[in-house]
Amino acid sequence: MSASETSIAKVLVVCLGNICRSPMGEAVLSATAKKRGLNIAVDSCGTAGYHVGEEPDDVTITTCKKHKIPINHRARQLARSDFTEFTHILASDSNNLRDIKRVAPDNATAEIKLWGSYLDGKAIPDPWYGSLSGFESTFEQCTALSNAFLDQLEGKQ
Ligand code: 4NP
Repeated sequence: MSASETSIAKVLVVCLGNICRSPMGEAVLSATAKKRGLNIAVDSCGTAGYHVGEEPDDVTITTCKKHKIPINHRARQLARSDFTEFTHILASDSNNLRDIKRVAPDNATAEIKLWGSYLDGKAIPDPWYGSLSGFESTFEQCTALSNAFLDQLEGKQ
């Protein structure tokens, strides 16, 4: 996680495996916030533990590098402490949202929402089984969603 204790928000981006959508979302949101001069902390995780400890998918890394977005993450699974550590938990799709809410402890303080709810209500489709262009559209969607989320955080919406 980047940014300091003075962050205006601590944001956790969540998908299933934490090797495609959410590490890309973390990287893009972090870079977009920096570009806008906003100090937020961003991390990502998966609802499942299949890929814990792994680097992001090769195509996730290639796509971020192509757009000059730094990416550095090791997959981890959603933890109970995340619900109080973070101010916002952003789910990539409705299955993730359901699974996050299912394990949320009673003392959860984070706002838990579909990331797409800040823009158009759409899920981020899983590019895991798709083509290179799938990852490119994931990147574009993450960029649009990052700006929409930050607009709301800044009270512009
Ligand atoms: P992600 O994609 O949730 O965007 O990281 C997936 C990666 C791996 C698997 C599923 C989705 N998997 O089943 O291993």
